Amino acid sequence: MTDTIIDIQNLQKIYHAGEVEVAALKDVSFKIERNEFIAIMGPSGSGKSTLMNILGCLDQPTGGIYRLAGRDVSQMSDSELAGVRNRDIGFVFQSFHLLPRLNIVRNVMLPLKYSDIDPEEAARRAREMLGRVGLEQRLNHVPNELSGGQRQRVAIARALVNQPAIIFADEPTGNLDSKTSVEIMDLFTELHRAGQTIILVTHESEIADYAQKVIHMRDGEIEEIKHVTASV
Ligand SMILES: Nc1ncnc2c1ncn2[C@@H]1O[C@H](COP(=O)(O)OP(=O)(O)OP(=O)(O)O)[C@@H](O)[C@H]1O
Ligand SMILES: [Mg+2]
Repeated sequence: MTDTIIDIQNLQKIYHAGEVEVAALKDVSFKIERNEFIAIMGPSGSGKSTLMNILGCLDQPTGGIYRLAGRDVSQMSDSELAGVRNRDIGFVFQSFHLLPRLNIVRNVMLPLKYSDIDPEEAARRAREMLGRVGLEQRLNHVPNELSGGQRQRVAIARALVNQPAIIFADEPTGNLDSKTSVEIMDLFTELHRAGQTIILVTHESEIADYAQKVIHMRDGEIEEIKHVTASV
């Protein structure tokens, strides 16, 4: 039995930069099932972030079809897309993207701002998520009072607070040392075991090895899709 959450067919993205056209994605097709853990790898400029931005509904393709949970994304209105980004998708970035003046509970509450959840309940959920990523002792801290790994845990808690169908992470360990990277990948592994669908971009094969499947990109195309056999 399959439960396809992402289905892209012949996806294309052409950027126009002045006179120059850049074909960042050329004819990319694949499916991702619910509760898969996918890594996207490939050299710089191969189209990984472009693909993630489209899959995360932050950007639209210039050709092809993207079905998210069975719905054609190109047919969604701007407000439907905003709703999808808020409720169905969680993002984690290399540089954490936390607000420096807010304590970490308030940072994690941010995605709930657009829902009708009252602030007390939002704070309760934020504290619960921060507990889940091991930061229950740091609730009153602001981001620059935390280590890099702890900041990334806050970003992951924030991505999870809406219970999104998919978590997208673009180079989530790119700013972390190798020991902290292992801790963050262990956390993703735990979330995956609990049922989370995860799509992660990385340059490093050690990081990609945590996934079940690795999509290798080159020059805007899929070079190969590999199943990871060795479990970590
Ligand atoms: N907004 C843009 N306008 C024009 N060209 C762009 C734009 N964004 C990306 N590109 C080009 O599209 C191609 C793919 O870029 P993308 O950012 O997806 O690569 P990447 O695989 O994520 O690289 P990296 O590993 O360096 O993050 C590159 O050639 C890049 O220069
Ligand atoms: Mg990139």
